[in-house]
Amino acid sequence: MEFMDFEDKITAAGAKESEESMEASLRPQTLADYVGQKTATENLKVFIEAAKLRNEPLDHVLFYGPPGLGKTTLAGIIANELGVEIRITSGPAIGRAGDLAAILTNLNENDVLFIDEIHRLNRSVEEVLYSAMEDYALDIIIGKGPSARSIRLDLAKFTLIGATTRAGSLSAPLRDRFGVISKFEPYTHDELLRILKRTAGILDVRYEEEALLEMARRSRGTPRIANRMLKRVRDFSQVKGSGIVDMDITKKTLDSLGVDDMGLENLDREILRIIIERFNGGPVGIDTIAAAVGEERVTIEDAYEPYLIQSGFLHRTQKGRMVSELAYRHLGLTSFMGEQLSFTEE
Ligand SMILES: Nc1ncnc2c1ncn2[C@@H]1O[C@H](COP(=O)(O)OP(=O)(O)O)[C@@H](O)[C@H]1O
Ligand SMILES: [Mg+2]
Repeated sequence: MEFMDFEDKITAAGAKESEESMEASLRPQTLADYVGQKTATENLKVFIEAAKLRNEPLDHVLFYGPPGLGKTTLAGIIANELGVEIRITSGPAIGRAGDLAAILTNLNENDVLFIDEIHRLNRSVEEVLYSAMEDYALDIIIGKGPSARSIRLDLAKFTLIGATTRAGSLSAPLRDRFGVISKFEPYTHDELLRILKRTAGILDVRYEEEALLEMARRSRGTPRIANRMLKRVRDFSQVKGSGIVDMDITKKTLDSLGVDDMGLENLDREILRIIIERFNGGPVGIDTIAAAVGEERVTIEDAYEPYLIQSGFLHRTQKGRMVSELAYRHLGLTSFMGEQLSFTEE
């Protein structure tokens, strides 16, 4: 378990390719089945109704927030509720302006175009998107040199739904063209419990409720992680347990996967421990932390840091990252006031 790579870790919030078909089967299809994200969904419900009444496309929508919180799922639901087709692509998949033009000219009236990782579109592609979003038109240059001329091609009216983990990396002109911008928040334990119960129903898993609650508590507010935990615990319960997902097998599974009471796994604890033991608790720069634990900076920033900050283990300051008192306690280390630190191993 120590040497699993990033993608194999149970708490890695990104989806592995091998997981995608399973995830698709667990995705709710309607707003009524979609748990949580109340602010986003309540507004969207109104906008969807209004668009349908007027027989117009929904305004362009931007979703942002950490991976695994249901952005792709909600995009699919929107198309479903609108009764239109959804075309799914991603920033890195659209290499050239011509690729985007091909996608756009194939959309039908009021369809949804979903672009995942939209912050990774390249400049020339992004520029084509501006007139497409604003005027439902493409400006195409024909010919070269002095004889080149631009013609305007009308497109079907469509809705762009963009998703990103980093709203800050989006250019201002692109961000300004979205009429609806929704931030995705981590889920509460109660919401995750509802999601897990639904998943258990679909997978036909027998469970005790306290076991699902334990998974909810340890899954970093992230449905993708919660669902993945349930599947692993189910495997353990079939092979080593009674076949029922109960508290005992849940704790054993999560312990053997290195997921602790707070949902932290090995690398999370390693990050905190290094800041404490090598840098006196911080402040220390993110690049230094990444080098010390042997991970990429973006991996630390996108996948580890948000939860450590959200749950109060880590603070971001002008001078770098600092651990909190909670981090010392969680690792069984003692901090004394001032410079003097002493460590007591558990
Ligand atoms: N609100 C929700 N209700 C029920 N299941 C959810 C919800 N949000 C996410 N999920 C589950 O979590 C998985 C990951 O969601 P996804 O939409 O792919 O996240 P994102 O696109 O934000 O990375 C999906 O397979 C889905 O089953
Ligand atoms: Mg997604």
